Amino acid sequence: MIASIELKKSASKHLYLQLYSQLRELILKGELEADTKLPPIRKFSKKLSVNNITIVNAYNLLEEEDLVYKKVGSGTFVAPLTNQHKEEQNNYLDEQVYIDEDTKFTEQQEKMINFATGAPTPDLFPIAPFKRLVNKVLDRDGGYAFGYQKSQGYLELRKTISSYITNYNIKADIDEIQIISGAQQGIDILAKTFLDYGDTVFVERPTYPGAISVFNSRKANIVEIPITSEGIDTAVLEEKLAEYNPEFLYLMPNFQNPTGYSYSKTTKERIIELANEYSLLIIEDDCLGDLNYTSKDNKSLKSLDQNQRIIYIKSFSKVFMPGLRLAFLLIPNRYFEDILISKYISDIFTDGLVQRVLDLYFKEEMWEEQITTLKDTYSQRYQTMCNALQEYLPQKVEFTIPQGGLNFWLELPAELTDKKLQQQALKKDINLAPGSVFYAAAPPDNRIRLSIAAASQKEIRRGIKKLASIIKDQLENNGYQLNNSFLPLV
Ligand SMILES: Cc1ncc(COP(=O)(O)O)c(C=O)c1O
Repeated sequence: MIASIELKKSASKHLYLQLYSQLRELILKGELEADTKLPPIRKFSKKLSVNNITIVNAYNLLEEEDLVYKKVGSGTFVAPLTNQHKEEQNNYLDEQVYIDEDTKFTEQQEKMINFATGAPTPDLFPIAPFKRLVNKVLDRDGGYAFGYQKSQGYLELRKTISSYITNYNIKADIDEIQIISGAQQGIDILAKTFLDYGDTVFVERPTYPGAISVFNSRKANIVEIPITSEGIDTAVLEEKLAEYNPEFLYLMPNFQNPTGYSYSKTTKERIIELANEYSLLIIEDDCLGDLNYTSKDNKSLKSLDQNQRIIYIKSFSKVFMPGLRLAFLLIPNRYFEDILISKYISDIFTDGLVQRVLDLYFKEEMWEEQITTLKDTYSQRYQTMCNALQEYLPQKVEFTIPQGGLNFWLELPAELTDKKLQQQALKKDINLAPGSVFYAAAPPDNRIRLSIAAASQKEIRRGIKKLASIIKDQLENNGYQLNNSFLPLV
């Protein structure tokens, strides 16, 4: 029976969840009888070509449901079915029919292909292990998880983060780590800390609109510095530094939102030099840095910073679950107290239960698999998007292939506008993000952002094909004749 188990590395479902579901099914169907010994962890992991932890996590989930039991020193065995399991066993086939009908219904409902959102969809969320860890935290800490927490964050989680970030070549001790309720809150509390009415802040042009809104809410003077496929234009940055005295520069050096651009090594090094020369404070938002598919160097600026010039923001929204509202800041010591006060004023502390669960996620070594699974799914979507754009789009649409992240930034021919294209696309059940929302002032109107966060590979191919035909129709209506067979006269 066990021989029939097959795990698909290409599926969006975690490997341990695939294994858990298949074993569960074999047990409930009675194909694995009570007291049958399950394969030892090492042997099984070798057979399935997965990490030991995949087997451990699947066995743990089955144990939580009393479907298996463990004997110290002997291994894991199938448990006798309880009455509740037997009832479930009887309903098993009926349930399959029911689920299939349910799925069909939602598929029909959700026919919109969403390239507009940068948020991952619920099918990518690791619900079963999360549930297990929530219970574990509640059993362990009871009401403490729901009391007032320290504003700086749960100590154990800060210790875990301090050791985890060494993987990124970043050193920060627990006093330099501030837990926050999402990166958006991070940007907000930094703005509260550093910006007064009329203060200047530098941003990339274009940039993340959530940051623009925060800086506008502080009535700051936003100076936009153009970004190219090599990163922010350091010559313009230097000119502007000579002209203004900004409170800080907000940027995203890896897989930038919205452009997908990544800073070259030269750009990163030059920025660090300028920061030292002009005593410039930098806020580095590293939302997508983990989603590296082809980049050879996606180091953070923070890892290059010798002089405590950088405040680093890392969100768990894109690589875990946005609804948890969890992120952290790495803060040079001198700013720590002021930022702590801003955090306290905002919401006093970040949810204690989710901080504890995240901490266990790392401690039980499930994080690595989380990132690997998500990255696998996204890199397949990324490849599909690269191929579809190259195959279907007319040559007049320009884009640079990003090296990672979730976003593709397209420049439309001047005859088209982002909003009009969005309206036309919506009529065909495709949504996209108009580029003009990513600018603080004087936006161009012929850019769009396409995100792979919420579109499957199938949807990407279908959506880009349709989008390309809408673009071609609009170009033809504008009098521009597409002639893909044009060859220069030589
Ligand atoms: C660059 C960037 N920073 C911050 C955020 C907000 O993240 P969070 O959900 O952690 O608040 C986003 C969300 O899309 C983002 O793209």
